Amino acid sequence: QINEAEVVAFSVPSYACQRRIALDHHNTVLADALSLLAENAELSDEDGRGVAFRRAAAVLKALPRQVTSMAQLKGLPCLGGHSLRVIKDVLDNGASDEVESTKRSERYKALKVLTGIFGVGAKTAARWISEGIHTLQQLQASGHTLNRAQQAGLEHYDDLNQPVTKAEADAIGEIVEKAVVSVLPGAQVTLTGGFRRGKLAGHDVDFLITHPEEGREEGLMPKVVSWLVKQGFLLYQKTTRNSYLESKDDPQSAVRVDLVVSPVSQFAFALLGWTGSKLFERELRRWAGYEKAMSLSSHALYDNNQGRYLRAASEEEIFAHLGLEYIPPSERNA
Ligand code: GTP
Ligand code: MN
Ligand code: MN
Repeated sequence: QINEAEVVAFSVPSYACQRRIALDHHNTVLADALSLLAENAELSDEDGRGVAFRRAAAVLKALPRQVTSMAQLKGLPCLGGHSLRVIKDVLDNGASDEVESTKRSERYKALKVLTGIFGVGAKTAARWISEGIHTLQQLQASGHTLNRAQQAGLEHYDDLNQPVTKAEADAIGEIVEKAVVSVLPGAQVTLTGGFRRGKLAGHDVDFLITHPEEGREEGLMPKVVSWLVKQGFLLYQKTTRNSYLESKDDPQSAVRVDLVVSPVSQFAFALLGWTGSKLFERELRRWAGYEKAMSLSSHALYDNNQGRYLRAASEEEIFAHLGLEYIPPSERNA
């Protein structure tokens, strides 16, 4: 017999940027199921559906206990009909048919393999699949011309699909640090992305570079890049987007690295914007726009009502401008 106390529903604020979500939480099985459907939607170039599943997963990650019955979910935000069906399936049967059949599907497997090539996105993968290309062997046999990024991605496929460990991230950090201070003494390197949130592995390593004197960071990126090239650390570089498929810390491995240079006046915005998670960032911008009439980017915060930019020297100040409680990086794992 169920008494009232046992069906008291959980309560969670609407925006993921209002919640503290640590790496470890109480609903891994449910969140993983929804995350897989999110990933499948993103790989299928259906970003709207992807975000819906990500939001649902982020609600479950924020709950103080494991979900055991649908009644506990009453009144929670971001749980649409589709997500609720998946959750019910897992609670009733231990697994979701939709998730399991997605994992097994040829299309999902092919999308994973092909987008695993650096420089190949959902659209390109879908085009190739429609031509019957499902594997790397079939791609190579097809005679398609690959661009430079994709060629490098194919060449280092295994390395680049191997998760980067924290130890590797630290080793690469030392190289980046050396490069940066060699070309601009006094410049500072900060680890961002998943590793700053406490993750022990990632798909790349993200660094933010600045100098305490405004303006000194100008022209820094090309200098850092040529230092790394000269030392033989760069395998491939993409200058348009701060993004470098990258470096070998020993001759056996290739790792993706994102390098971002920011003037110190924008540093807090860049730090907040590059620390993630992606959903946390998306929710911050949504909160800023809808709740505060502000526009947040990784460069600045603009207040539409006051018609001016709001300065900030720290992440704490940005949260304060946004009227949000400060959430430390380790709890931004939405
Ligand atoms: P893993 O790398 O898989 O461990 O996860 P991660 O959280 O580090 O993800 P990723 O490296 O893809 O992104 C880190 C942060 O950088 C996220 O908050 C992204 O939103 C942000 N980011 C990624 N690409 C861009 C970009 O082109 N512009 C900006 N402004 N931010 C980006
Ligand atoms: Mn990353
Ligand atoms: Mn990155």
